[in-house]
Amino acid sequence: MIHALDLEAQPLLSRYLSPSRLAHSQRVAHTAYELAIHWNLDSQAAYQAGLLHDLAKPFSPSTLPHSISDSLTDVWESYPAVWHALVGPAWINSLPITPLEGVLEAIYWHTTGGDCMSCLTQVLFVADYIEPQRPFGNRQMIAELAQSNLQHATLAVVGSSIHDLLRRGLPIHPFTIDCYNWVCGQLGVSVSKSIIEVI
Ligand SMILES: [Fe+2]
Repeated sequence: MIHALDLEAQPLLSRYLSPSRLAHSQRVAHTAYELAIHWNLDSQAAYQAGLLHDLAKPFSPSTLPHSISDSLTDVWESYPAVWHALVGPAWINSLPITPLEGVLEAIYWHTTGGDCMSCLTQVLFVADYIEPQRPFGNRQMIAELAQSNLQHATLAVVGSSIHDLLRRGLPIHPFTIDCYNWVCGQLGVSVSKSIIEVI
């Protein structure tokens, strides 16, 4: 089945992604696939989400081959690193590929996280951070967290993202704040304190 997903996605991946971005997407797909199996989720959907999650990354509002609303153009101005995730699903839906259930939702939230994330969405969110070639110093620790508690790993990823954005003096998209508050609420403050050591 993975082979069929690769065959279906390959023309789009080769057309729109650079070789390095394509290789990253394949690593995210494999990482998400293994996490989904570990958590008894739809591994095929996780794999496809990994393959497609960055498909809109090479574009800007003026080059994306799909019309977008003014509000999404505003996102490009304020949060350029987030934009590709928010425009990706509607565009991918117009392409010659059939997204499996939950895939477009997972892609939409994969950069910011959000409140009320499905398990599949969390799998992609975490896999994008822990794929084996990511250079983050806490990558391995979060990969281990993801084996024991998916929400702990989600909290560690969103906390790390916020920490990094603060350090670099960049604005934080409201969805990212929503995600942090939502996962903290799910886990309770005492648990989140222990995760701080990983962030
Ligand atoms: Fe990615």
